[in-house]
Amino acid sequence: MTACLEDIACALVGGGKGILAIDESSDTIKKRFDAISLESTEENRRDYREMLLSSVEAMSQYISGVIFHQETIRQKSLKGSLFMDLLKTVGSIPGVKVDIGARPLAGFPGERLTEGLDGLRKRLNEYSRLGLRFAKWRTVISIDHVGLPTMAAVRKNAQALARYAALCQESGILPVIEPEVLMDGIPGDHSIDRCYEVTKYVLEEAFTALREAYVKFEGLLLKPNMVIDGKEARRASIDEVAEKTIRCLKQTVPAAVPGIAFLSGGQSAEEATAHLSAMNAGSNSYPWVLTFSYGRALQTAALIAWGGKRKNVLDGQRALIHRAKMNSLAALGQWSQDAESSS
Ligand code: G3H
Repeated sequence: MTACLEDIACALVGGGKGILAIDESSDTIKKRFDAISLESTEENRRDYREMLLSSVEAMSQYISGVIFHQETIRQKSLKGSLFMDLLKTVGSIPGVKVDIGARPLAGFPGERLTEGLDGLRKRLNEYSRLGLRFAKWRTVISIDHVGLPTMAAVRKNAQALARYAALCQESGILPVIEPEVLMDGIPGDHSIDRCYEVTKYVLEEAFTALREAYVKFEGLLLKPNMVIDGKEARRASIDEVAEKTIRCLKQTVPAAVPGIAFLSGGQSAEEATAHLSAMNAGSNSYPWVLTFSYGRALQTAALIAWGGKRKNVLDGQRALIHRAKMNSLAALGQWSQDAESSS
């Protein structure tokens, strides 16, 4: 079983490919659609996701797998194919977000606990029957000036991540562990060094909980934030982000983990690409493969170019292909400003 999970993990992170995250919750996709003045109806969400998923060039050359929202699993293209099947025909692997979101943590003002463990075994068995090969669970940790995060919030989230991962492995589904330290904390002006300290602690707690839950490290992927300064305090250079992120990961992530696929977390699309490329260009001696599992950093340009109109589908896809190609170069450590402007 672990060997099979390891194969899925390696297929997701290998060959200069990475993951496209289109698993936005209804609140989040509404915010994204608000930016192009589009109502968030089921039909518009379907149209948007079809525009992305039907780009054969992006999906077959650069995107190894897609994280679906539960709604998308059963949706079909206008020609009547399940999106999941569309993906499989181009060799990309379907996955799904299985948490049900982060809710206020009682007793800990300002902190949240990700929920969704109730009934998860049953859901995972169904997802496995439907052909989904991996699942994602995201926890969110905020940084503030007066003591957040608390040890308790970090630990409770780590324990939930570990329970979810153990259930995934039992069902033969690869868990993708996403313990995100937010860039936009309260007020979001924390330094890169504070992000380093909190990320290191969050990852240590996550791997302790995973170990205690007997989760096999070979059969999971990590989807972390980069070590970066808060959204209101951007100062660090590309090299500093790359160097501190790698240092933090080396101190916390077991070598048995096959791969690390970063989230973009509110970085601009180009920053997310440049940071990933700098990490991969720096050395090839890491124990894990480093790639992308981006939501906003892959989608924003495509969403704007599409603008909610069927006549703009090709423009949206062109924007997606460009970003996916740039991130594929970054996964190989080969992205450059020249590549960005010449392609
Ligand atoms: O959970 C968040 C997504 O999977 C990644 O989204 O790259 O926009 O942070 P992001």
